[in-house]
Amino acid sequence: MSPFLLTRTLPEDATGAALRADVLHGLTRSAAHDPAQDSARPGPAPTVKSLPPKWFYDARGSVLFEEITTLPEYYPTRAEREILVARAAEIAEVTGARTLVELGSGSSEKTRHLIDALPALHTYVPVDVSESALTGAANTLLAERPALNVHALVADFTRGLALPGTPGPRLVAFLGGTIGNLLPAERAAFLGSVRGLLSPGDALLLGTDLVKDESVLVSAYDDATGVTAAFNKNVLHVINRELGADFDPDAFTHVAVWDSAREWMEMRLRSGVDQTVKIPALDLAVHFERGEEMRTEISAKFRAEGVRAELADAGLSLTHWWTDERNRFALSLSTPS
Ligand code: SAH
Ligand code: TRP
Repeated sequence: MSPFLLTRTLPEDATGAALRADVLHGLTRSAAHDPAQDSARPGPAPTVKSLPPKWFYDARGSVLFEEITTLPEYYPTRAEREILVARAAEIAEVTGARTLVELGSGSSEKTRHLIDALPALHTYVPVDVSESALTGAANTLLAERPALNVHALVADFTRGLALPGTPGPRLVAFLGGTIGNLLPAERAAFLGSVRGLLSPGDALLLGTDLVKDESVLVSAYDDATGVTAAFNKNVLHVINRELGADFDPDAFTHVAVWDSAREWMEMRLRSGVDQTVKIPALDLAVHFERGEEMRTEISAKFRAEGVRAELADAGLSLTHWWTDERNRFALSLSTPS
């Protein structure tokens, strides 16, 4: 029998209550109260309305993201896989991991390279908010590796994780450049909490997308076939379904801009018309001017010095830094200082 366990650490109404709070906060606040929207900064005009990114990933959003990873323009997945293939044996040797925890694991597709390279691996602990992604990934993995213990956690990795008591050393992997989807202050808090999960001998394997040419970045987040646009608009479908809202996804267009001052990609939805959207579950009507943009996601791009400094601030020492041949993406390994 497959040793598969799934633990939900989200409270029963977590999605509903948290989504309501996030949508209310994101769509009604003013720019003056949002430190991330400092209008004195250079770069693109600040957007006032915003939505947090984790709501992209319902079952349809997870499928759309997997489609993004295969697009010719979306290089991060291929670049990171290249590094994993080249370095998995070295990572296994350096860490000797017996438990592999993966935050925001999604399809766990690239992770197989790591799993297969770890001879002493006892348990794989994929953590994701998307239950459909977790069960899909676990089914695929266990079909090929029936002896692997998989303990999946449906959990929000920004909320303080409780990990199962599996044997160490523990390797915590956070791949895909997903750390770039957190704002700088959120990143610092997140890395601090990851540090808290590590004991001496444990390690963090972190995937970070690197600063590069603007045109390459913009294409990666605004592909020719419109999959990324559909993914971005999926958050509107989620709000319609969960909160009874009447967003018309066709009344918004997908926008991807490079903020060169903050070195992040910013995804937005721009209202094509003057419109008012009703959100019954919040007893709210939200007005959008024609051309008004709402921020849905940032994807920060990094430099080696910045990653080293952010890790150090969280009490982690960078021990290894690996990039793909073309220097597009980096994997770093760090250990408790
Ligand atoms: N690691 C995979 C997937 C990256 S997409 C890869 O590299 O291809 C980001 C993943 O993180 C999605 O599966 C999404 O559901 C998950 N995710 C986003 N925010 C999250 C959060 N706050 N807590 C847990 N999982 C989250
Ligand atoms: N973690 C992915 C990234 O930053 C998420 C992502 C890819 C994304 N494409 C997107 C988020 C488009 C919003 C819109 O690369």
